Amino acid sequence: MGRSILFVASEGQPFIKTGGLADVIGALPKTLAKRGHDVRVVLPLYKKIIEKHYDELERIGTIQVHSGWIDQPATYYTATVDGVVYYFIEHQYYFERDGLYGYEDDGERFAFFQRAVLDMIYFINWWPNIIHSNDWQTGMIPLICHACYADDYRYQNIKHVYTIHNLAFQGNFGVDMLPSCLGLDYSYFDNGSIKFDSGISFMKAGIVYADKITTVSPTYSNEILTQSYGERMDSVLRYRRDDLWGIINGIDYNVWNPATDKTLVENYDLRSWVSGKKANKKALQQELGLEVNEDTMLIGLVSRLTSQKGVYLITDRIREIMGMDLQFVVLGTGEANAENAFKWMESSYKGKAVYYCGYNEELAHRIYAGSDMFLMPSLYEPCGLGQLIALHYGSLPLVRETGGLKDTVQPYNKYTGEGNGFSFYAPNADDMVYTLRWACDQYYNNRPGWKGLVKNAMTYDASWEKSADVYEELYYTLCNWPDN
Ligand code: ADP
Ligand code: GLC
Repeated sequence: MGRSILFVASEGQPFIKTGGLADVIGALPKTLAKRGHDVRVVLPLYKKIIEKHYDELERIGTIQVHSGWIDQPATYYTATVDGVVYYFIEHQYYFERDGLYGYEDDGERFAFFQRAVLDMIYFINWWPNIIHSNDWQTGMIPLICHACYADDYRYQNIKHVYTIHNLAFQGNFGVDMLPSCLGLDYSYFDNGSIKFDSGISFMKAGIVYADKITTVSPTYSNEILTQSYGERMDSVLRYRRDDLWGIINGIDYNVWNPATDKTLVENYDLRSWVSGKKANKKALQQELGLEVNEDTMLIGLVSRLTSQKGVYLITDRIREIMGMDLQFVVLGTGEANAENAFKWMESSYKGKAVYYCGYNEELAHRIYAGSDMFLMPSLYEPCGLGQLIALHYGSLPLVRETGGLKDTVQPYNKYTGEGNGFSFYAPNADDMVYTLRWACDQYYNNRPGWKGLVKNAMTYDASWEKSADVYEELYYTLCNWPDN
């Protein structure tokens, strides 16, 4: 018999997405629900959700939420998608803004959100066995649940899982946040449990107070125990290492499937990929104003343009890369330096390189389908979904061997034919360019090898099923489940 799990997150498909977290929240709960569990998800009701989905939501009611000095109404809405019940927390001032994060009062906004989530459980009288929180925006939940609801055993029976999707975003705030927004006393700072420098950290609170901590790949779960990748949380993570699990993400095959994808000009599968990818490449070249030539190797990049993603390894060597016989399509927004470099690339290499500065889901699908290779040279990568989608669409990933990229991309071995992509280890542009040159050579001069690689890529199991098994096992260790 299934149990009940409440996922708490700051973004989730099919409602709102800025990155991979949303893909995970859109897919893992659905997979678990199909296995018979009562899975629900709670998100802030952002302006973008109201604009696109308001008609689909049903209003539940309003309560007054008190958290420290915050005394504000929260209105709850709900919708059910694919067997998963979604809840939305409405607060006009906190959430109806153009963006999701990056505001001065983010600490206050997400303090309110987390308290409103916990109050919601009482309000709707639904008591989950497990609350599964994600990233810093929800890191305080285990602590608030223990500290502020201590006299209600129903809250105290709940087990807490906390997933780190990116350790670099920590939600660190001044210590006055404790009384003002969280309703907690200074003891949590004084005893060091959530102290970080001279303030407090939501991320650290999640790591310290959750029953189990997970992150999104086995390699990243080891990397973050070291000083190089630990973002100054490595010592507290080492302290909790026995409760830290590394579970790789999957992708939603209903959303990402070249055989059914409605955004493509031609659908394809393992048998028809050669002609299918050519047709999609031609259409992409036409759409973006590239020289139309189905034989030219086309490289795609769909990403946030930040140093995490290794974009400066690319921008440092644009001339060299553009000197090769290839076309390059970049989709993404991010740091001004990276955006400017790609704008320069587009204007300097007309017909050969295109930079689409923006967020465009449909174009992303068409790039995965129309490209031969997918570039993702991240300096660190907790999991990475781009390379998983690329694999499934037969676009061979070229990645740096870190985090989830290392766990999912196996470099081509010319002698055995093994592999599903290309990789390099040292975080420097020389090694990346060298690998790119070699990959290009395989594309033009080793067609049988390339075809074998695409076959391996497209048959790689990037579904959620295996990982959902591991999450079930994790929940099982927490609440003796299944118990009947
Ligand atoms: P992260 O979550 O660190 O940004 P991931 O690789 O886990 O990286 O997930 C990124 C997700 O966001 C992928 O689904 C990718 O296709 C998508 N994405 C990133 N940038 C854009 C963009 N500009 N337009 C459309 N989709 C994007
Ligand atoms: C984060 C990470 C990315 C991961 C995603 C989903 O955004 O940067 O590597 O795939 O979360 O877990």
